[in-house]
Amino acid sequence: MNRIKLFLTFVMIIFFAVLQAGCGGDSNNSDSAKNKNNNSGLPDWEFENGFGPIKKKLYLVPLDKTMASEGEKIFESKCASCHKLDERYVGPAQRNVLQRVTPEFFMNMVINPEENLEKHPHAKEMLATYLQKMTNQNINLTDARKLLEYFRLLNEELKNDSTTNK
Ligand code: HEC
Repeated sequence: MNRIKLFLTFVMIIFFAVLQAGCGGDSNNSDSAKNKNNNSGLPDWEFENGFGPIKKKLYLVPLDKTMASEGEKIFESKCASCHKLDERYVGPAQRNVLQRVTPEFFMNMVINPEENLEKHPHAKEMLATYLQKMTNQNINLTDARKLLEYFRLLNEELKNDSTTNK
């Protein structure tokens, strides 16, 4: 009887050890720089979120559709000359931008493209592809936040589509 107990305890220990090893690794960092490892030499914050006035994680509440529709208008007037939603233009297609970058990176890039193009690996990589520099559109914090709300809305729609299609 005792031997069986001992054996069962042993089996339990092995079981939990394996469980730990399996789940421990990919920890809580699922949104870190959209799942890329930071070997850029930049501090982790800048690597994930870019350079600019946004220096801490945004507190994102449920979508505000009024802000999103104001963001859409700003996109039409200040960004659509270079970006389309679904196809490459002067710059990359933007509908799924929040699947590439964090909300904080989005705002920093929109407000402060020059510095990000100079220092950030994602921006530099894109510049190497698009061979044209995104220009500063004098977007203030409020307008950048409205643009972000527009892209959060588009991103929600994308997610909903992919769940209903499955
Ligand atoms: C003069 C053309 C131009 C304008 C205007 C422009 N962009 Fe860009 N944008 C680019 C290019 C080109 C890139 C790729 C990086 C590079 O080459 O500078 C880019 C990159 C980006 C990125 C980087 C992240 C990614 O993965 O796509 C974001 C975000 C972005 N643009 C948003 C905007 C928004 C929002 C506006 C309007 C406020 C805007 N852009 C206006 C040309 C432009």
